[in-house]
Amino acid sequence: MTRMTIPWWQPKVEKGDYRFIQRALDRNFVNEGPQAREFEERIAKLVGARYAVSATSCTAAIFLALKAAGVKAGDEVLVPDMTFIATAHAVDLLGAKVVLVDVDPQTLNIDPSKIARAITKRTRAIIPVHVTGRAADMNAITQIAKKHRLAVIEDAAEAFMSKYGKRFLGTIGDAGCFSFSPNKTISTGQGGVIVTSSKKIYEALKPLKDQGRPQRGTGGDDVHFSVGYNFKLTDLQAGAGLGQLKHLSKRLKRMKRNYALYAKHLKGIGDIRVFPSRKGEVPQWTDIETRKRDELEKYLRSKGIDSRKYWHPIHRQRAYRQSDNKFPASTRLSYRALWLPSAFTLSDADIHTVCRAIKDFFKNAR
Ligand SMILES: Cc1ncc(COP(=O)(O)O)c(C=O)c1O
Repeated sequence: MTRMTIPWWQPKVEKGDYRFIQRALDRNFVNEGPQAREFEERIAKLVGARYAVSATSCTAAIFLALKAAGVKAGDEVLVPDMTFIATAHAVDLLGAKVVLVDVDPQTLNIDPSKIARAITKRTRAIIPVHVTGRAADMNAITQIAKKHRLAVIEDAAEAFMSKYGKRFLGTIGDAGCFSFSPNKTISTGQGGVIVTSSKKIYEALKPLKDQGRPQRGTGGDDVHFSVGYNFKLTDLQAGAGLGQLKHLSKRLKRMKRNYALYAKHLKGIGDIRVFPSRKGEVPQWTDIETRKRDELEKYLRSKGIDSRKYWHPIHRQRAYRQSDNKFPASTRLSYRALWLPSAFTLSDADIHTVCRAIKDFFKNAR
């Protein structure tokens, strides 16, 4: 097996970042507590949301946000066909029905022109996913949602600190969900945060993620006012996140630079199209489209360069299987889209190496 010298992505917890983890250990407080609160407060402040609630993952966060917004079992929820399957699974966890909508081939995000025909009497929510930090068309989506009285829960798993106009993604709908899994800018191992500016949603979220308790209890004679679950992020995990936050602006800058270098050097190479990253957006990763996607991925691998093929569209996955005919854009692009090495640990020289390899591939492919 070729050793990968240029990773597609890698998380990084530096030695100096351990101090918050150490603090939780020193306090002998490894459950959810003051550090989880601090992490929530930092995230809320960073994106300009009134409230933030941490959770075990973004999948759990989406489930909790839908439930807190009043979506119930049997309701229908609109989900883009091109997303990581977690978006659909979170809806299923609620007992609600996943209704898939094709995507805009320019952005890979839910196509607003196809939303209206997917709405029925049972539709209660839309989940726009900001794929790779690229904003879904939130103006169109919020207008449709208003007209049909639908909740908007943003899946901003890949869009932490990415902006749509003047606002941060995740803060435009009723609630937004971030992921802090290993392939994100900040990683708590696994973890998610819901942001909202609705007091009602915030107050519903707290007992929902903690066994129906509005306040932390003893685990003994607590009074549980409602149904709730255990989706708590621990202080150990929050400690990993707090430590890394001091690198945030450097990491975001590097990811933007990776994208800018690719966009510049891959212009006019073969049939490559670099998907857009617009003003204010943070490219979580850089993605391209090419008809030779599979061959290119294999070639890069042979050179020790790791890349990642795009998801199969949700309608192709067994649990949500439907005909390709209803989803022409996601079907076509799932064969063509590729994420290039995008880690914030990469240097200019690494990106140049990748671009050179891609140029060589297309030279020989002619
Ligand atoms: C678009 C999208 N939604 C949801 C998730 C689920 O996040 P998590 O792994 O934190 O549950 C991911 C995962 O990275 C994702 O990319």
